[in-house]
Amino acid sequence: MNLKGSSILSINQFERGDIENLFRIADQMEPFAQRKKITRVLEGAIMGSMFFEPSTRTRISFGSAFNLLGGDVRETTGLENSSLVKGESLPDTARVLSGFSDIICMRHPEAGSVAEFAAASRVPVVNGGDGNNEHPSQALLDLYTIEKELQGRGRGVDGLRIAMIGDLKYGRTVHSLCKLLRLFNEVSVHLVSPKELAMPDELVEEMRESGIQVVVTDILEESIAHVDIVYSTRIQEERFPSKQEADLYRGRFRLNKAVYTQFCEPNTVIMHPLPRDSRGDAKELDSDLDDNPNLAIFRQTDNGVLVRMALFAAILDVVHLVDKYVEQVPWHNPRLSG
Ligand code: NCD
Repeated sequence: MNLKGSSILSINQFERGDIENLFRIADQMEPFAQRKKITRVLEGAIMGSMFFEPSTRTRISFGSAFNLLGGDVRETTGLENSSLVKGESLPDTARVLSGFSDIICMRHPEAGSVAEFAAASRVPVVNGGDGNNEHPSQALLDLYTIEKELQGRGRGVDGLRIAMIGDLKYGRTVHSLCKLLRLFNEVSVHLVSPKELAMPDELVEEMRESGIQVVVTDILEESIAHVDIVYSTRIQEERFPSKQEADLYRGRFRLNKAVYTQFCEPNTVIMHPLPRDSRGDAKELDSDLDDNPNLAIFRQTDNGVLVRMALFAAILDVVHLVDKYVEQVPWHNPRLSG
């Protein structure tokens, strides 16, 4: 698939070759993300950043990626600060905002909302998370991270063994990641959650139909024993009918130093889409693992910028031009010193 001019709404749009192309573009973005050089290839372009739901890393990562390619970002955050609270429809909002921008990144609490918005937009729209449905760019950066981490261990994504843990019912990152893994061979997935927060049946079905070996379970210890990756997730309390209901599940599965040391193989990679819930009753991924070199969570966030730069470059069709608009970095670069 040529991404030129395409909206990115679901991970289902991608085939394996597309992923491989995109990841090689992401690799090329590294010197720019590291501030070893600057490219102005998107100078004059505007990205509209519309985050109608809380976000820290996804919003800033999309914005930084666009800035790193030389483009500008205009943003609105929170439903309460937009005219959607005055009763404006998503299609009208899209018609207006797409007049101001060359591309739009959007997050919204309702499943399907970003697709509805994109249908009325005159410019490509990238889904930054639509309710409990999908988060395609997160799945791409997760897979890019998995690929890089396993490369260091002499392995590829084919043959991957992964355990996904936590709120698999409402977690959109795991929904998109499970769909993405269908493109690979001999993958096995342990889905570890309380029964009430299990991965939706249709997603499990789709995975099995594509040849993935799936184990659905509520037992953590045996599920993390023989895997390459443990992927922990937060209880998505904002999707629950009440906070009290979310409280029932918080802290149910905890990955900490003691559990990791006792049950995981020594090289198991630890991932989480973040934010991790650090409150005392949660701690699904404990900070006592922070000095473990297998903890990849901050490599995931760094990789997110590369993957999002690659998406922008591909959608706006400037991949071949990125190196033609290069400048030197004039400022002191703290990343390169010391
Ligand atoms: C996730 C999200 O918003 O879906 N965060 C992210 O984008 N990295 C996961 C979460 O909020 O738990």
